[in-house]
Amino acid sequence: MSLIPEIRKLTTPQDLFAAAAQEVVRCANEAVAQRGRFTIALSGGSTPHNLYTLLAENARTSLPWQQMFFFWGDERHVPPDDSDSNYRMAQEAMFSKTPVQPGNVFRMPTENPDAAAVAKTYEQILRDFFALQPGEFPRFDLILLGMGPDGHTASLFPETAALQEKSRLVVANRVEKLKTSRITFTLPVINAARCVAFLVSGAEKAAVLREVLEGNASAEKYPSKLVHPVDGKLIWFVDRAAASQLKD
Ligand code: 6PG
Repeated sequence: MSLIPEIRKLTTPQDLFAAAAQEVVRCANEAVAQRGRFTIALSGGSTPHNLYTLLAENARTSLPWQQMFFFWGDERHVPPDDSDSNYRMAQEAMFSKTPVQPGNVFRMPTENPDAAAVAKTYEQILRDFFALQPGEFPRFDLILLGMGPDGHTASLFPETAALQEKSRLVVANRVEKLKTSRITFTLPVINAARCVAFLVSGAEKAAVLREVLEGNASAEKYPSKLVHPVDGKLIWFVDRAAASQLKD
């Protein structure tokens, strides 16, 4: 059943990252206690960098690093050592400073110049890891998401083809306004998660956050509106600046 989103309003960005880090720790320890492992899909962009840094600095002992398995909800179509790579950002901010098992980190093979092939390969990695039957979707313990000022999330941009995908797990999504393709989880994968957590910080996100949480414009124009875990939690971690245009 789709639960009501939980909106956690924090005062400062630092409070937001601390609250999000606490949720990661809670979720990870619960997953390992119940299922022996924790599967998480990381988000890219600048916002989560602060969370990854915090986890690396403060959660060395409170996280079950050896039982944690890392994936990405989306990736730029650049080599893994490119400055735009979401993998490189997480590697530098977190993996290089923590006892994570390198074999437990599943990056997208974006060195392949064929974006569709990258998506296909990553989809197979998910199918193998989660031992999926045809038609099944992977159920991540936690998927972290950010939201762009246009309401996109992962690499599900407004009015792009990936929004319509109902059966694939991972697709290459052409984003004309960025003149590039990105590789992204599809909505069925995101909505199959046990928990989805958005991290939204800053005044530049205030108008779009109001639209996504309180507005009635078409979801195609604001893809973050399409995130509704079918049987899981949805938490919005927002700071005061981002929440400044919300009703209450
Ligand atoms: C990416 C992200 C993207 C990001 C939003 C918000 O690859 O860039 O997955 O969806 O979360 O663009 O980015 P900021 O957090 O940097 O504002």
